[in-house]
Amino acid sequence: MAKILLTGGAGYIGSHTYVELIASGYEVVILDNFSNSHPSVLDRLEVITGAPVIALEGDVLDANFIKDVFAEHTFDAVVHFAAKKAVGESVEQPLDYFQTNCVGFSTLLGVMKDAGVRRVVFSSTATVYGVPDILPLPENHATRPESPYAVNKLVCENLLKQLKTSDDTWSYGILRYFNPAGAHPSSLIGEDPNDIPNNLMPYIAKVATGELARLRVFGDDYDTPDGTGVRDYIHVVDLAKGHVQSLRKLIEQDESHVVNLSTGIGYSVMDMLKSYQAACGKKLEYEIVGRRAGDIDGFWGDPSLARDLLGFKAERGLDDMCKTSWNWVSRRKNN
Ligand code: UD1
Repeated sequence: MAKILLTGGAGYIGSHTYVELIASGYEVVILDNFSNSHPSVLDRLEVITGAPVIALEGDVLDANFIKDVFAEHTFDAVVHFAAKKAVGESVEQPLDYFQTNCVGFSTLLGVMKDAGVRRVVFSSTATVYGVPDILPLPENHATRPESPYAVNKLVCENLLKQLKTSDDTWSYGILRYFNPAGAHPSSLIGEDPNDIPNNLMPYIAKVATGELARLRVFGDDYDTPDGTGVRDYIHVVDLAKGHVQSLRKLIEQDESHVVNLSTGIGYSVMDMLKSYQAACGKKLEYEIVGRRAGDIDGFWGDPSLARDLLGFKAERGLDDMCKTSWNWVSRRKNN
């Protein structure tokens, strides 16, 4: 079976992808610097998969370290997650973001090139589209990234395309995620932000556990059915499975692709809050406050290309996202 290097494999989406890769029979080596994750995730992955985890602590910016990893292991492909991901922080720290997200990735690609490893699944974001002209968003929509984070992701996407132009033996799967939510059904892994979360789902989760008093709903005057922002929330396990399908496409058919990982369904902030209340069995406090700068009315993806090319279909609905999130955060809080 193919051997995969999984960078950022201890993170939120990376850890769920690890589980699905192992379940699909891949041999996986995790590389992580634990800058936004905890090594205890590795123990949990061993419990879930019932097998020892091979993990290396290191940074994608450390070319010598990466070279050593490729000298020691013969990889068939890389699934690359290791990156910084907070949009607001990227505005404050554009250099750090460029360094990790773009220079880190190009360092990794350089080592891959020298080692003759030419397949990569890349963790991108639907934020590369910017404000939508049409909904649902298709992959051929214009890209107008607004934040340094989104620009970083587009730079990396373009670098992959340029590499392929220079040498057709490269193949890439660029996966543009919509809004990841939920946790593994084991409740052993999930999203675990250290600080006050910026994103809706982890914020609601902390209101449910009592760590935060109330949700601040950023605006109820959007052009949406209930006036609150609408997004395309996708279960992290579905997202993880999408990576396996992308990888399979590269290994079995050598076919590069750029696809949305989305459900095609939009839910509002109030939909999310109500569904989470049902999942945790508590009333969750909220207040309507002003709009957050840069937010838009509605944003959801066209999932048809991912379905046609990869056979990808998100199977898990909103209830499952909220239930698994609640199970994970309530268990974590009690441990
Ligand atoms: C953000 C990121 C995006 C990333 C995505 C998922 C920005 C501009 N974009 O998108 O790059 O892919 O997260 O990680 O940050 N909301 C509240 N109260 C809160 C938090 C959010 O009302 O405390 C609302 C927002 O106004 C929005 C919705 O909830 O309508 C979703 O927000 P969020 O989870 O931050 O995701 P996005 O803004 O869609």
